[in-house]
Amino acid sequence: MEFDVLIRNGAVFDGTGAPPLSADVGIVGDRIEAVGDLSAATARLDLDAAGHAVAPGFIDTHTHSDLAWTLGPGLEHVAAASVRQGVTTEVCGNCGFSPFPHLSHRRGDVERHLRTLFGATQVDWHDLDGFAAAARRAGLFANLAPLVGHGSLRVGVLGFEDRPPRDDELAIMKRLLREAFEQGALGFSTGLIYMPGAFAGTDELIELTREVSRFGRPYVSHIRGETDMVRRSVEEAIRIGREAGVPTHISHHKVAGRVNWGRTEETLGVITAARDGGIDVTVDVYPYTAGSTLLYAILPRWAQDGGVERMLERLSDGQARDRIEADFAAGPPEWENLVRAAGWGGIVIATCPGRPEIEGHSIGELAGPGREADFVFDLLLEQEGRVTMIVHLMHEADVRRVLAHEAAMIGSDGIPLPGKPHPRWAGTFSRVLGRYAREERLFDLATAIHKMTGLPAGRFGLAGRGRLERGAVADVVVFDPGAVLDRATYEEPLLAPRGVRDVFVGGVAVVSGGELTGARPGRVLTAR
Ligand code: ZN
Ligand code: CU
Repeated sequence: MEFDVLIRNGAVFDGTGAPPLSADVGIVGDRIEAVGDLSAATARLDLDAAGHAVAPGFIDTHTHSDLAWTLGPGLEHVAAASVRQGVTTEVCGNCGFSPFPHLSHRRGDVERHLRTLFGATQVDWHDLDGFAAAARRAGLFANLAPLVGHGSLRVGVLGFEDRPPRDDELAIMKRLLREAFEQGALGFSTGLIYMPGAFAGTDELIELTREVSRFGRPYVSHIRGETDMVRRSVEEAIRIGREAGVPTHISHHKVAGRVNWGRTEETLGVITAARDGGIDVTVDVYPYTAGSTLLYAILPRWAQDGGVERMLERLSDGQARDRIEADFAAGPPEWENLVRAAGWGGIVIATCPGRPEIEGHSIGELAGPGREADFVFDLLLEQEGRVTMIVHLMHEADVRRVLAHEAAMIGSDGIPLPGKPHPRWAGTFSRVLGRYAREERLFDLATAIHKMTGLPAGRFGLAGRGRLERGAVADVVVFDPGAVLDRATYEEPLLAPRGVRDVFVGGVAVVSGGELTGARPGRVLTAR
């Protein structure tokens, strides 16, 4: 038998969580043709994987890499930082941010909405089909698996206003959502701390989700609060899925803020009880005690009403500034107060293209004592909102507890931008394998791999992926289980990991001997 690629003598993990088998793996075209003793076979590319693990390519369940392919020349290392860890599929469109769908006359609003998170953004399409065609033309290192984002959908129909949609607007939102699912979107995501997601009530979310329940794809939520209101927020997410009749998937599950540390016992208790009661609830998690998002997410909701431009107008008004500052000190109860949860010393500038010299420094360091709020207001004004931050919020014991939960899969929440982004984009998968599985023995290697392969493939309906068996798509990673480890840090956030040797996407080598080959065989994966 002649294969295109033959990976010999590896410890083969099938993605189900079962222990490895010593076997050879033969690939023909974009499929796995055989797994077993292939010592009599030959191949065009013949690799010895003795001492290495051979696993299904990893599925990153939570990314913001939707538009990484637009980053442009010189920034390929940013877009490719994930695939160098063995990630072959990135679930994107998370936290309510997806580059579609919208009504044509709302294109400007949508571009403003996306620009704050993704950097410079030009949206030359209005639906999933158009987005997929553009991404395919540009070329992708790994596969993209898009969700529809509620925030983008809402901006794309009614703009940034803090009010419920009118009946006619809701009908249009339902139609656009349904069309995105018909075009193969893998789920419906919300970001309920961001505008305009924060403006949506539970009823709006149930009604929209119900519209697409017949597809059976998950409701995926960055829940309303991860600090003091975390329990109620988990319950709201479960209720939305249950009442709409779809599975619920909670994004980057955590409890944040010192006073809440330890409360993952409580939230995971809620999740376990729901699962025991027959409700399908899962979560994703990244292995770090810091989060990362838009800097303006620290502002109270009233200050964000009306979109980025209205927000900036308020930030140049002395009275509004005083009111925001008062909220930071003693905010309204139903609001995620990240300033109180992290402190100014725990909020660090990640990416700020207009002022790279402040990247990597905390607001506490950059502003004088008592000047922190003014510093942030002035910075947001000057950069028109385009600043991301890293927020140190969590406790290691909570991170470990979530990672180890049976319903938890791995998602980086990576935001591929230059500057000093959170190291999770380039480090999450090798950190789970090297630090949490090998060094700390939080779970065994087969379980770690399952949380990156078979488990997420099932959650997001990625047929033919997440398993290493005959007939599966040839997304494959070869790594050294004794050496694999993340190297990305807060100081050097894009460093490639140690120990990941070969990565195949659809049978094509994207990483070979630890280096990028330059190939871009990635596809946009849809449920059609
Ligand atoms: Zn999020
Ligand atoms: Cu996210």
